[in-house]
Amino acid sequence: MKIAVSGASGKTGFRIAEEALKKRFEVRLITRKGSVLPHSLKSCEKEELSLFNNSELDQSLSGVDTLIIATGARPNIDLTGPAKVDAVAVSNQVESCKRVGVKRIILVSSLCVGKLFHPLNLFGLILLWKKVGEDKVINSGIDWTIIRPGGLNESEENLQNQNILYTQKNSQEEGSIPRRLVAKACIEALNTSTAIGKIIEITSSEENKSLTMKKAIEGFNNISNTILEV
Ligand SMILES: NC(=O)c1ccc[n+]([C@@H]2O[C@H](COP(=O)([O-])OP(=O)(O)OC[C@H]3O[C@@H](n4cnc5c(N)ncnc54)[C@H](OP(=O)(O)O)[C@@H]3O)[C@@H](O)[C@H]2O)c1
Repeated sequence: MKIAVSGASGKTGFRIAEEALKKRFEVRLITRKGSVLPHSLKSCEKEELSLFNNSELDQSLSGVDTLIIATGARPNIDLTGPAKVDAVAVSNQVESCKRVGVKRIILVSSLCVGKLFHPLNLFGLILLWKKVGEDKVINSGIDWTIIRPGGLNESEENLQNQNILYTQKNSQEEGSIPRRLVAKACIEALNTSTAIGKIIEITSSEENKSLTMKKAIEGFNNISNTILEV
């Protein structure tokens, strides 16, 4: 299976590519021109392009089975970044996937997406623009999974003691998670058929019970059933 990772030069994106390589997937890195990639990804195919150029996008995604989207506006004084990157560029990527026949999309989004009154929105209403991007993925007609992490950190220490709390959408509002675990969760989603069509929120801590994504999703269904029965 060939996986493309967009935003592969980002702090989550490069880790997703590394985790995909560990699982022996063929990996194609999608970045804008001039992005810097770590040495660990030197064996991957690379495509440098503008996410706002449809023909370049189509070319970069041809032959790809799954696209993992890890792009995101970098903090900047230009407050239009979230609209451009988290909404329009995600939308462009989804449209390109439809044109070239990509079969699966995994989007790295964020906790609290869609909330208006939230301090993160001081950066160009980012949580609202991310909702536009999420909706585009959800309505794509392509098998999708949205991973919404809490606050991201760079920790690579002690990860074996960190367990992920996986919940359904709009269940968590705070908490953090190392980017490495987000990357692992993206690859786990790829191998979990019940993750298709789900928004999965993730944070981590040592106190959480150790669960696979598959087991956690079975719990989601039980909760929905309980609500329906009431
Ligand atoms: N920071 C947090 O605590 C947090 C929490 C929850 C969710 N998230 C979300 O999680 C995702 C990953 O976050 P991160 O902090 O790991 O990412 P990051 O390091 O900021 O990387 C962002 C990636 O997007 C690319 N990008 C930005 N603007 C672009 C543009 N105009 N055209 C093409 N590519 C562009 C960057 O390319 P360059 O390398 O060329 O700049 C980079 O590859 C993002 O969507 C972020 O919003 C973040």
